Amino acid sequence: MSMRIGYTELEAKVRGMIKEKRFIHSEGVVSVSRMLAERFGLSADDAAYIGIYHDAYRYSCDSATPGFCRVHGIEVFPEEEKEPMLLHGALSAIHFPSDAEGDVPEHFLRAVRHHTLGHREMGVYGAVLYIADYIEPGRTHLDCDDRRKILSGECLEDMILTIMEMQGAYFKRKGIEEAEVSRELYDFLRSGGRLQ
Ligand SMILES: [Fe+2]
Ligand SMILES: [Fe+2]
Repeated sequence: MSMRIGYTELEAKVRGMIKEKRFIHSEGVVSVSRMLAERFGLSADDAAYIGIYHDAYRYSCDSATPGFCRVHGIEVFPEEEKEPMLLHGALSAIHFPSDAEGDVPEHFLRAVRHHTLGHREMGVYGAVLYIADYIEPGRTHLDCDDRRKILSGECLEDMILTIMEMQGAYFKRKGIEEAEVSRELYDFLRSGGRLQ
């Protein structure tokens, strides 16, 4: 494989793959990802590339998706088995090199794979994506105080913990059970674990 296509080309491709509303969300994710990457000494361009692509397969999941992911060597978690929509990040990881028409670094793939449930192997770019996905300006479930509280974290790990606590409270109200991988990530970060 070779050099992948540039951001602008990938962005145009993604625009044709998802609904307008989802595309606007993805642009919001890109701008927050750039900001976080700059703040923490990461590549803003890489974070943007991951961000614009992360939801490209948001409308492509069906009952065949868990099996398709397994065939491609992806471990499917029980919550994803039950709710295949949760696998859209896994589909992005599978299709990323072909859509980008070239080599895509492994940490890009881990980031998109794990952006929905979170995972201790998501890496720092996965952390940036996870946070940006939750706080991008189009998200109406958050107010300014929530955003400020999350962004006041001193590191990406702290921000994820704050998000997971907010989400946990929401899940509790809705009677939703947290996925086991998400719980593992939370416990890992709580005990001082760092993403890499
Ligand atoms: Fe997503
Ligand atoms: Fe998203």
